[in-house]
Amino acid sequence: PQKIIIDTDPGQDDAVAILLALASPELDVLGICAVAGNVPLHLTEKNARKICELAGKPEARVYRGAVRPLLRTLVTAEEVHGKTGLDGPELPEPAMALQPGHAVDFIIDTLMHEEPDTVTLCTLGPLTNVALALNREPRIAPRIRRIVMMGGGYFEQGNVTPSAEFNIYVDPHAADVVFRSGIDIVMMPLDVTHKALTTRARVDAIRAIATPVGKATAELLDFFERYDESKYGTDGGPLHDPCVIAWLLQPELFSGRHCNVTVETMSELTMGSTVVDWWGVTDRPKNAHVMRDIDADGFFALLTERLARL
Ligand code: BDR
Ligand code: CA
Repeated sequence: PQKIIIDTDPGQDDAVAILLALASPELDVLGICAVAGNVPLHLTEKNARKICELAGKPEARVYRGAVRPLLRTLVTAEEVHGKTGLDGPELPEPAMALQPGHAVDFIIDTLMHEEPDTVTLCTLGPLTNVALALNREPRIAPRIRRIVMMGGGYFEQGNVTPSAEFNIYVDPHAADVVFRSGIDIVMMPLDVTHKALTTRARVDAIRAIATPVGKATAELLDFFERYDESKYGTDGGPLHDPCVIAWLLQPELFSGRHCNVTVETMSELTMGSTVVDWWGVTDRPKNAHVMRDIDADGFFALLTERLARL
């Protein structure tokens, strides 16, 4: 199986991504690193453990990461995710413990010990932990197989400001470190995730699995979609983070282009905007495979089939 580390700020859509990864035998989840984002760190690290227990995998390793962005004040998104970050289902307080040690040390130690080019980082939240790890031990960069990231937007520019997507906006300086690192990046921007809509029929198919995981996932999605549904007037909301895991399982569900991505870190107006050179009008190096389209029916079929295994 492919070895992965999930860096995450759960978040309902993060939670579904974690479930999808834990349900998939093609993936070996070495660890789950929590970061501050959708809600503060003390909630994201607890939510990550709740989800591992829901999945029936209390042996999964959850690490506590950065409590705030590199330079900016933490911005959270309770209006989207609710007060706990995981509003919707009633999930018990987790019994499993956090792993000792910091997520940044776990990332560095893992990458320095595993064979080079075998570990993929899946980032579902602000990039603080990954940037800290790269700054502290730059030798990890060439050892990382790739980063598959949910973040950014270009034709669909922003969801938290007119020009910035949440994960990049919360820690644009960290994102800048990552995009300049030379690591191969696959980026799932809003352009893709806004096509992965949790329509009524798709959520009902997940509910119909009729297991605790199926029921809880449907409740997570029922809560999560209300925010974007009312904003965009769509049937269902965008299921952002599971796209990252789905790409690892079935990359043919997605299509995009290899191009340069640079992050705005200077302008307050457009802070955290991802400037994607889609048309190749600069000679800046191609640093990211920027996805644009998704076979949404195929994606939800995969997700539903996998959730049914838990
Ligand atoms: C991203 O921001 C968070 O609210 C979601 O979990 C997702 O990672 C979408 O902009
Ligand atoms: Ca997230």
